[in-house]
Amino acid sequence: MTIETERNSQAQANPVFMTAKAAICLMAAADISDASTIVRCLEPENHDPLQNMTDPDVVLGNALVVETKYRTMCSLIKDSGCHVCVDLPCGYTPKALHLSKAGMRFIGLDLPIVVQEIEPIIRSLTTSSDEISFHGIDATNYESIRTALQNVTGPLCITTEGMMMYFDAYEADAVVSNIRAMLELHGGLWITPDPEFVLQFFYSFHSIFGKNSLAKLAASKESAQQQANVANLSNPLIINPDDIIRSSKTAEDFINSHGMKVEKITLAEHIPTLSIYRQLTQEQIRNFKNAMNDCHYWVITLDEHRQQTDNSEQQALPFEMNYALENNIFKVSIGGRLDSLTAPQLLTAWEKIKTTSMPVGAEIDCAKLEYITSAGIRVFLIIQKALSRNLTLTNVHSSLKKLFMQKGFTVPPQR
Ligand SMILES: C[S@@+](CC[C@H](N)C(=O)[O-])C[C@H]1O[C@@H](n2cnc3c(N)ncnc32)[C@H](O)[C@@H]1O
Repeated sequence: MTIETERNSQAQANPVFMTAKAAICLMAAADISDASTIVRCLEPENHDPLQNMTDPDVVLGNALVVETKYRTMCSLIKDSGCHVCVDLPCGYTPKALHLSKAGMRFIGLDLPIVVQEIEPIIRSLTTSSDEISFHGIDATNYESIRTALQNVTGPLCITTEGMMMYFDAYEADAVVSNIRAMLELHGGLWITPDPEFVLQFFYSFHSIFGKNSLAKLAASKESAQQQANVANLSNPLIINPDDIIRSSKTAEDFINSHGMKVEKITLAEHIPTLSIYRQLTQEQIRNFKNAMNDCHYWVITLDEHRQQTDNSEQQALPFEMNYALENNIFKVSIGGRLDSLTAPQLLTAWEKIKTTSMPVGAEIDCAKLEYITSAGIRVFLIIQKALSRNLTLTNVHSSLKKLFMQKGFTVPPQR
């Protein structure tokens, strides 16, 4: 199998990586330094990630949100008192360049498909390579993050911009546990705009488009979904604009239940001057600054009264996969975690088998499958869609049965 096939498998299992391509194009539209250069370096291989955003107002509204996040987060990171920024996920942003120039160490964590592309670009644009490193990880996978940070001395400023909304409750829980474990190991804090991301969109669009804002937001949501083929999942950390008070409490309780506490930073008090103001009227800028009084970024730290956790228990079985074509059935057994890091391998195996002969069915033995994320489920669905009969899942552990049934798979009652 070629590198191209492996890359295709990664892209199909993790279409969410495309959202980061859109983000860097919006940063270029907002005139953030180095963003246009990064876009040019990415371009030969890719189509325009903003091609579905045909309304220039929708581009303007999105660029305003993205620039606000980027510049405010950079400023909060520099003021955090930490020397090391762990950007989870780093996407394609120029943050590594900006923070290393300011004397900080930058560690970019993202899915391997993103890291493989961005690392050589950033390295070609900097002379402070020693202060910058990148690692392919899955945020739900404790071991991948622990390994990436094993030689790092804290305290860490962990930053999460534009990721938490893509997880379901089960995945969000794993990611928050992993971040807590990293804070316990290295010290530091976690800064994220994600819980209030819908509010930031809503108030930013309203402040510049007034009564047209709902239509512009709907167009924006549709183009985001076309771009990356990912649904916005709801999880307890994401605040629902239709029920702000209750969902804010749920989100804070969720963080508290992980032994951490939240301090909310009012956005209006921290936004540096934005380049995009040049494209707005004075009235729009005034409205926008006012509206940002109702938006917050969350600074999350360990609660000193929490119960101690034993993170060594989080060690998972190593991933293993065996497969063969038997009587025209694709038979595969999977062990360990099927997540963003390993699901592409299952897809590559399926593609390889298909080049020999198209199977009529598939049987996946889940006896040793410990954990599956939406990337794994997505690959099961891709295989299912190509078959003329149902995908059979055997020996499913009781802890995974409900999840598979919710996703529409038939699970025989075995153990
Ligand atoms: C909207 S982009 C944000 C990227 C960057 N922080 C920015 O502001 O442009 C979402 C990012 O989340 C990353 N991502 C999604 N699921 C992930 C996971 N399970 N583990 C690590 N990164 C993930 C994607 O690869 C993508 O880079």
